[in-house]
Amino acid sequence: MQNTSETPRLLYDRVASILIGQIEDGTLLVGDRVPSLRKMSGRLNVSISTVMQAYMNLEDRGFIRSRPQSGYYVCQRHERDVSVPQKSKPRGKPRKVQLANTVETIFGYANRPGIVRLGVANPGTELLPVKALTRALRKISAAQLEDAVDYCLPPGEIGLRRQIAFRSADIDTMIDADDIVITNGATEALVVSLQAVAKPGDVVAVESPAYFSVLQTIQTLGMLALEIPTDSESGLCLDSLRDAIDENDVKAVVAVPNFHNPTGALMPDDVKKDLVDLLHERSIPLIEDDVYGDLYFGERRPRTCQAFDSKGLVLTCSSFSKTLAPGYRVGWIIPGRFRSEVMQRKQLLSSGSAGITQLAVAEFLRSGGYDRHLIQLRRRYREQLMRLRESVAEYFPDGTRITRPQGGFVLWIQLPRGVDSIELYENALQHKIGVTPGSLFSTTGKYKNFIRLCAGHPWSDAMEQGVSTLGRLVHELANV
Ligand SMILES: Cc1ncc(COP(=O)(O)O)c(C=O)c1O
Repeated sequence: MQNTSETPRLLYDRVASILIGQIEDGTLLVGDRVPSLRKMSGRLNVSISTVMQAYMNLEDRGFIRSRPQSGYYVCQRHERDVSVPQKSKPRGKPRKVQLANTVETIFGYANRPGIVRLGVANPGTELLPVKALTRALRKISAAQLEDAVDYCLPPGEIGLRRQIAFRSADIDTMIDADDIVITNGATEALVVSLQAVAKPGDVVAVESPAYFSVLQTIQTLGMLALEIPTDSESGLCLDSLRDAIDENDVKAVVAVPNFHNPTGALMPDDVKKDLVDLLHERSIPLIEDDVYGDLYFGERRPRTCQAFDSKGLVLTCSSFSKTLAPGYRVGWIIPGRFRSEVMQRKQLLSSGSAGITQLAVAEFLRSGGYDRHLIQLRRRYREQLMRLRESVAEYFPDGTRITRPQGGFVLWIQLPRGVDSIELYENALQHKIGVTPGSLFSTTGKYKNFIRLCAGHPWSDAMEQGVSTLGRLVHELANV
């Protein structure tokens, strides 16, 4: 079948079509092992990486599933038919955020020992390079004794900023170490960025659903949130944003364009450019949260909005929390033209961040193991997310809709109308299962029949059992 004039995309599409044909005509049955990568590559005279791409594509579409150390298997037909939630339609008025204490209460429970951790968007520590980081930490403590205990004032450790700047070149953002300000995780990066571009009473446009920590920040800073319709696959809807900007005095936009939390949506790169152009026209800053950007399942890393920004209006926030060590609290901002405002706020808020963890991360990045680690990590998250999606499709009632993210590790699940996710959360807790209720992701009490589930932890029998129990609870609530 080799045809050198064909693009890799066409080639792997053809390999995928051959397998789909065999599944559909019954040559391959549910549970059958599909030919190994090597066998298929020899049989069709294409490269192993082409077959790999084809299998990953079939896995994304729910035709096959990989089992660690065993290969790929044909899976249940019903797994393919679950559709994704439709575009959101929030009420279009800026409003005060009033999330009460629900978030703290829910996350207090979510981290208790013995809980099936489907509720929190944390990486399982088994997936993190704990030993290599500890070695880096030891080396730093021994070799840079004084640096390690001294204040590390903003903008933060130069060696770390150089490493981050060096890595940003991969996503076409040409920055240097001076363009970066280190923060305590992406959470502080978002707080500082919002403070730098808006003040109490200002209107901030956000996705709907929105990452709840952004809503909490807007609440704490006394700003108003304006929820913008958002597609669960492609993210923020630009036409709606344009209308919202025409009708309201929007002072900033906050978005998670790459693998949004909770939907996992990926804004296509050309839409990112249109978003930046729109905000340039109106001189509105964009705070983009890119914590999941490195966790793509496709062939290349999606770009950031900042890559299209020639005016310094985009502030990019990120961290190593989803890829290396959430407990180290190492994050950063690339603040564009808002550097001095950001530096001032960061200084006021925390007088810099811990030097020792910054030095250790810089040492780890210098040692060159990060890219290899990311390759493994992306594969693990992808498998875990796939398993979670399949289980939800299997155990939840008809009418359930599930997102199909192309990166990250969260799923946004629309339950049949009438199912109250707070009730589900409380019932699930009785069974020691953590879930995040949908209403946390809106200022208006929307998304009552949605939940977010996370696949940051390795898949296990307990998780499968947890999803099966959740499915039973959803069935019960749907039938009341
Ligand atoms: C979209 C998004 N931004 C920011 C954060 C917080 O990151 P950090 O732990 O680095 O503060 C999270 C964590 O769940 C997240 O999902």
